Amino acid sequence: MARKLVCICNLVEEKEIRQVLDKGADSIELIQEHTRAGTSCGRCLMEIDVIVEEHKKKKPEDQQQRLDLGF
Ligand code: FES
Repeated sequence: MARKLVCICNLVEEKEIRQVLDKGADSIELIQEHTRAGTSCGRCLMEIDVIVEEHKKKKPEDQQQRLDLGF
């Protein structure tokens, strides 16, 4: 799979965003906090939102994982 840069300002790839989502993050704010994606010009926020919403639809909530990571 090709590497895809989502946030050019902070050099954050889609893979990094998906890893944070897999660890239990479920909002743009948490993605920003953990990757810095979307914290500069904000042009990538729409794309981050799409990734977050896609993730919510395909993955059932794993409460234990969220608790383990302190989210
Ligand atoms: S491209 Fe992500 S903050 Fe600018």
